[in-house]
Amino acid sequence: MPDPTPPAHPELVTLKIDGRTCQVPKGTNVLEAARTLGTSISYFCYHPGLSSPAVCRQCLVEVKGQPKLAPSCYTPVAEGMDVLTESEKVVTARAQMLEFTLVNHPVDCPICDKAGECTLQKMYQEWDGSPSRVDTGKVHKPKVVDLGPEIVLDAERCILCTRCIRVCDEVAKEHQLEMAYRGDREQLTVAPGKRLDNPYSLNTVDVCPVGALTSKDFRFAMRAWELYTTPSVCAGCATGCNDEVHHARGKIYRLVPRENEAVNKFWMCDEGRFTYKEIDTARVAAPRIGGETSSMDKALAFAAERLAGVPRELLGVVLNAQATNEDNYFLAKVAKALGITHVYLAGRPPKPERADDVLRSADVNPNTAGARVIANALFGAGKAKGTQQLNADIAGGSVRGLWILGDHVALDDEALAALAKLDVVYQSPHDNFLSDKVSVLLPAASWAEVHGTFTNAKGLVQRVRAAVEPPGEARPHYELVALIAKRLGVDVSVGAGALTAKALFAEMKGAVPEFASASFGREALPIQLRFAASRG
Ligand code: SF4
Ligand code: SF4
Ligand code: FES
Repeated sequence: MPDPTPPAHPELVTLKIDGRTCQVPKGTNVLEAARTLGTSISYFCYHPGLSSPAVCRQCLVEVKGQPKLAPSCYTPVAEGMDVLTESEKVVTARAQMLEFTLVNHPVDCPICDKAGECTLQKMYQEWDGSPSRVDTGKVHKPKVVDLGPEIVLDAERCILCTRCIRVCDEVAKEHQLEMAYRGDREQLTVAPGKRLDNPYSLNTVDVCPVGALTSKDFRFAMRAWELYTTPSVCAGCATGCNDEVHHARGKIYRLVPRENEAVNKFWMCDEGRFTYKEIDTARVAAPRIGGETSSMDKALAFAAERLAGVPRELLGVVLNAQATNEDNYFLAKVAKALGITHVYLAGRPPKPERADDVLRSADVNPNTAGARVIANALFGAGKAKGTQQLNADIAGGSVRGLWILGDHVALDDEALAALAKLDVVYQSPHDNFLSDKVSVLLPAASWAEVHGTFTNAKGLVQRVRAAVEPPGEARPHYELVALIAKRLGVDVSVGAGALTAKALFAEMKGAVPEFASASFGREALPIQLRFAASRG
């Protein structure tokens, strides 16, 4: 992946664009320089995260003193340069290039999955809008081509920009796509003997400016303009890629990457995109006592009663690297107030085979770093024990009661057998092998249903936002903790107002040194994608 990080003191170049002066670092291209003035130049093949082959000629501008129009994506700024982006020559060239691009395009927008977020549609509306002059048959190319496990190609819609080829070569570092044939017969195809099956393959769908590459998972599931977008962070691993949750009427349809130069640049892995599917799988929507559905009130009273019946020195809490900082902090705070000293840290076991030097981390939890610093700050460095010790303590009888946060607690057979004899309060979004072994199961909200923060592997604290409502009686872990803690006589007040993730974060900043300079981030209401113009 190219590193666009500018040097600390870049040499600045001064130029004029449409009569306005701007100063940009040396090496910047004219297209990006124009952006700094709010001037939008049309383009297809350029992508700020990829190399620039200048193949589409959609971004032509006039540079005074040069006889021919220049591709702004490929032309570096020069001192004293005078650029025109709206001269008659440029406007004509722009419309002519669009007409040329559309000569063999099927214009099947009504049945195209990209309609509503297609760059070609947007450009035609903005820069051309004239009727087609094509009165001959169009060149036909393969349709519904199965390129790999996730992606389908419609070669007729392809405008030959090569972005998808470059994403594979430069981001995934695997040469899986290339062009075949020449002229108006040119078409995208897989490289000889290859399939489009790299772990980052769905980034090709994001960068495709048209509906040529579509995701098998999303195609025909929902029209883009009906979706709302909520900014969040992927819960698939410790990298914490910034993403957008696309949802409508309480259902999540896809996760797509959101630009963050410091974390994931423009990309996400395929596995991370599919984490939304786990949310609705085997959901717990109502409390259960001993496996039987119960009212929330009864379940909370039962949970408090069971925990109160265990001597404090034999009671343990399990923090979870799958839960937010706010959830972990609040359970740790309540545990400390109760005098509990057995603290464990659970989460999904690592998957070393998935780690690479692009984005994917072996740690498949979004908040290992956050849960650890919280435990260190509240109980002392290194005091939180891992799941190996949790297994040993359950089997050996060192703990008689547990208050567990989140799913994915790796218990072995011996500990599982012993667990049935313990008093266990289990807050989980999902049903799993623990559900019928615990005293009481409480329905918790998942990461897509709560506000809060995760701390990624580099220690960056990032905001997750509630995109959809939790099912049934499920609610954030910290609310469940508060409802039980109140019944145990613990003061659960946080600040002067209501108990919210924001209030917990504010308190945590004073209690956990690693959060001192972190920010909870701004509020962001979901935006309907119809107002987001185009994607790709
Ligand atoms: S499939 Fe899409 S991204 Fe790939 S070359 Fe064609 S238009 Fe460009
Ligand atoms: S690399 Fe990790 S955080 Fe990024 S998209 Fe993949 S699973 Fe999610
Ligand atoms: S965007 Fe500049 S030539 Fe394609």
